[in-house]
Amino acid sequence: MFLKSLIFVLTFQFSNGNPVEQVHLSLSGKADEMVVTWLTHDPLPNLTPYALFGLSRDALRFTAKGNTTGWADQGNGQMRYTHRATMQNLVQGKVYYYQVGSSQAMSSIFNFRQPDQFQPLRAAIFGDLSVDIGQETIDYLTTKRDQLDVIIHIGDLAYNLHDQNGTTGDEYMNVIEPFAAYVPYMVFAGNHESNSIFNHIIHRFTMPKNGVYNDNLFWSFDFGNAHFIGLNSEYYPEKMSKEAQAQYKWLREDLEQNSRNWVIVMLHRPWYCSNETPEGCNDGWDTLPRQGLGKLFPGLEDLLNEYTVDMVLYGHRHTYERMWPIYNKNPYKSENPGHIKNAPAPVYILTGSAGCHSHEDPSDHIMQDFSVKALGEYGYTYLTVHNSTHLFTDFVDTFSGNITSLDSFVLEKNST
Ligand SMILES: *[C@@H]1O[C@H](CO)[C@@H](O)[C@H](O)[C@H]1NC(C)=O
Ligand SMILES: *[C@@H]1O[C@H](CO)[C@@H](O)[C@H](O)[C@H]1NC(C)=O
Ligand SMILES: *[C@@H]1O[C@H](CO)[C@@H](O)[C@H](O)[C@H]1NC(C)=O
Ligand SMILES: *[C@@H]1O[C@H](CO)[C@@H](O)[C@H](O)[C@H]1NC(C)=O
Repeated sequence: MFLKSLIFVLTFQFSNGNPVEQVHLSLSGKADEMVVTWLTHDPLPNLTPYALFGLSRDALRFTAKGNTTGWADQGNGQMRYTHRATMQNLVQGKVYYYQVGSSQAMSSIFNFRQPDQFQPLRAAIFGDLSVDIGQETIDYLTTKRDQLDVIIHIGDLAYNLHDQNGTTGDEYMNVIEPFAAYVPYMVFAGNHESNSIFNHIIHRFTMPKNGVYNDNLFWSFDFGNAHFIGLNSEYYPEKMSKEAQAQYKWLREDLEQNSRNWVIVMLHRPWYCSNETPEGCNDGWDTLPRQGLGKLFPGLEDLLNEYTVDMVLYGHRHTYERMWPIYNKNPYKSENPGHIKNAPAPVYILTGSAGCHSHEDPSDHIMQDFSVKALGEYGYTYLTVHNSTHLFTDFVDTFSGNITSLDSFVLEKNST
């Protein structure tokens, strides 16, 4: 026992920096809560992790007790310890300061503004981001962190979270801390997270509990006038039929119960986009989530249309492309592609160009008839849900810092 604590003290003293790492926020789905998740490489010997928080840096008056889950990387079986705590009774619109850890060691102090759900929602949404190529996007998001309510990463993180026995994931999570510890960072899986049955996405994050598996892979949350849904398209190519069916059943119930004006669905794999082939996104693994395969793999498009989903965002291909409202391969074109009113089908946006290993450019693509605008720049989709009738999107070029509207778009609908 004594030897163990001595060894601990020595490793603690000689380790580089703080053993409390990879601090990041996420939404629980409740307007007065914020979840914080962090990681240590050593277990906490019989200690409870916690977050201290308050309205001033000098007075972190409140405590949120957390819990710990130890989990093994499948590469070398090495254990990591994920700690989670929910800060509660927060006042919307107020800035909170917080730090996390245990009686052994605490993180530095971070802050966040509890989103005000009575104000327009401002979100950055993108897929396919790695540290090497995407550093400029990470830096740009950091400069914008005070102006964002939520950042949503629609699959393919870090390239890959599990690489180098998980150390690539550790590095990524530390590099994004300058934005992810300040703005809730929501994620789900892309094909790059399917390794070891989604081990790293399950264990590194804390997404809203949806009542089925509660494992971060599919979830939803309300925010003001909008309902956001994150889905796992990877159940389809991974041939996980039972889970694909459970997700479909949950999705139907979730859409049925929704009371918000806008419904925004996100998943990793695109099913309408332009690429090098005349058919566009028509690869079997991409269209399987759309049209399904008998009872084993229920297709999603009909369901999204039945419940009049307003917008679908996806990644996987490394460009930006906005489509006309489209259903069953039929686009609904109207006069002004920059301002669509009462769209009869969801508007689809491909936004997989945050910056990853391989750059794609629309100049190499055969443009589809349903495509409105395609861009090869690196960046993210900036979404503003203004109120119950107006939603805006634009593409932000994070590399040039060119905030000139590259694809300014208004989606409008009559109030219900
Ligand atoms: C652990 O804490 C997180 C964040 O507060 C919470 O969502 C989760 O339900 C907790 N898990 C258990 C097993 O209590
Ligand atoms: C991952 O762990 C295995 C098993 O311990 C080891 O052989 C391999 O060298 C490690 N890889 C890296 C990149 O550290
Ligand atoms: C919603 O926002 C738009 C854009 O700012 C504005 O033109 C419209 O009047 C607003 N509608 C309501 C009901 O507030
Ligand atoms: C910024 O974007 C606008 C609109 O596409 C373009 O005309 C302009 O050349 C860009 N400027 C820079 C510095 O990239």
